[in-house]
Amino acid sequence: MRRPRLAVSLVTALAAAVSGCGFAGIGGDDNVVRVYSARHYDLEPAFEKFHQQTGVEVEFLYGTDAELRERIKAEGENTLADVYMTVDAGNLALAAEDGMFQPMTSRTLDRALPESLQDADGRWYGLSKRARTIVYDPESVDASELSTYEALAEPEWEGRLCLRRSTNVYTQSLVASLIAHHGEDEALQIVSGWADNAEIYNNDVEILENIDSGNCEVGITNHYYLARLLEDQPDLGVEVFWPNQQGRGVHVNTSGAGVTKYADDPELAKQLIEWLATDGQQAFVAANHEYPANPDVAPDDLIAQFGTFKGDDLAAAEFGALNAEAIELMAEAGYE
Ligand SMILES: [Fe+2]
Repeated sequence: MRRPRLAVSLVTALAAAVSGCGFAGIGGDDNVVRVYSARHYDLEPAFEKFHQQTGVEVEFLYGTDAELRERIKAEGENTLADVYMTVDAGNLALAAEDGMFQPMTSRTLDRALPESLQDADGRWYGLSKRARTIVYDPESVDASELSTYEALAEPEWEGRLCLRRSTNVYTQSLVASLIAHHGEDEALQIVSGWADNAEIYNNDVEILENIDSGNCEVGITNHYYLARLLEDQPDLGVEVFWPNQQGRGVHVNTSGAGVTKYADDPELAKQLIEWLATDGQQAFVAANHEYPANPDVAPDDLIAQFGTFKGDDLAAAEFGALNAEAIELMAEAGYE
């Protein structure tokens, strides 16, 4: 399901500008907020709703996380981006370290979002929750065999476990959370055990499909990939297991946004981010079956079926900042 590289969506003005037609007349006081988004999901409904409710237009373009960060850096003061939006605390932390955001304070966001999903310096805000959880084949695994992420490193799971590649930021953030909770030495043991046991796949959907077909017995994926598959195939033979419920809880990542350092319209950018956390929260998360970051908003029916769970409240900024350590640790563990 690869999207085209940097497909420009919705509005041609932005497309023209980013392709080098110059920036004159664009940005500033034109009641348009411009978003560079690496969220490879359907954002149009939320942005259109924002436009209807506020009269402020949203122009956005897609790219990969790294592409958009490079673009914003290269554009410098001339960037069109008022908002950088992406998935995973690892990416948000990298953008923050690169100085791409301007800090903001917002009582609306402080009230709407848990502290664990906010950068302590107000550079970015997590707008959804995504559980990276255990999934399994109920034909070959009984739920009573499952307990924690750590237990999947035990020899009994050799040849039965399917995991995602170490180059993926979701994997990196999960491992970063192990480092935060256990320290490097213990995390290395756990990840080495995973590496010994696991077949490695390139994306979460492949893992789920291989569980369904019986090639894998247990895996770790983001919950919404399962929700999306279930939408089309309600009989898919994959079940969710919420791990670590007696301890810290399920690893919870986020998708979030911040106002760029050289935003022409920082106030409109802030307004959009506040709206996405409140009035627009439902529309923002529902498009991709993510869990609301705002506790006042209910999850959609499909993911409500997965049941409630205790989520790890480790600050996203904390595991996001351990990204480089996680990559090194996986290399040392032989996790490909
Ligand atoms: Fe994803």
